[in-house]
Amino acid sequence: MKVLMINGSPHENGCTKRALKEVASALKECGVDSEIMDIGVGERVAHGCFACNGCKSLHQCVTDDSVNEALEKMKSCNGIVIGSPVYFASANGTLISFLDRLFCADRSVFEHKVGAAVVTARRAGNTATFDELNKYLFISNMFVAGSNYWNEVHGNTPDEVEKDLEGLQTMRILGRNMAYLIRTIAESKVKMPPAEKKIKTNFTR
Ligand SMILES: Cc1cc2nc3c(=O)[nH]c(=O)nc-3n(C[C@H](O)[C@H](O)[C@H](O)COP(=O)(O)O)c2cc1C
Repeated sequence: MKVLMINGSPHENGCTKRALKEVASALKECGVDSEIMDIGVGERVAHGCFACNGCKSLHQCVTDDSVNEALEKMKSCNGIVIGSPVYFASANGTLISFLDRLFCADRSVFEHKVGAAVVTARRAGNTATFDELNKYLFISNMFVAGSNYWNEVHGNTPDEVEKDLEGLQTMRILGRNMAYLIRTIAESKVKMPPAEKKIKTNFTR
């Protein structure tokens, strides 16, 4: 059992990574492995969606980069955690470019798996960013895990995050809740809800 974690920050070892590591160690204690992808680090980060619809036939993005790498990894994972620093009360731009393409390319790899969003901020904009990230999960037929607070930590540096004991507790509880859901799904004899063909009404009637 494994969870894919996406660190959207340009800081390989910043606050978002610190928060994700807390989730990862709680998952590990409960027998669930994880892998963190640093998709925001370096100059060759993901570009935005071209809206070319190429993924409709390819079932992956036309640009073969970290997006397709994550899609491939997700096929053998039981869950995903999306982590972002807050930039102007929103997720960081690289992460949004990445997520638009990831969730457009092949939504089926997320279906009936466990998802969670994690945000980190110096001071404000956390809940708006949390809502923003959750939208990718809730449109993808996922089971979204919660904690005893919204999944956020505060700090401008990892050392400051270390002092946010409440935030770190939120991460640990999230990790345990995710592990519980993943294990329960894996061991359940109850069938997954039946699939329905997607109905799309474009408000053009
Ligand atoms: C361009 C930019 C915009 C930011 N906007 C906000 C903001 O709106 N609210 C806030 O509390 N912190 C803001 N911050 C601070 C970061 O969210 C904060 O330092 C975060 O913990 C960094 O996480 P990281 O180390 O994983 O990159 C901003 C930082 C940058 C670089």
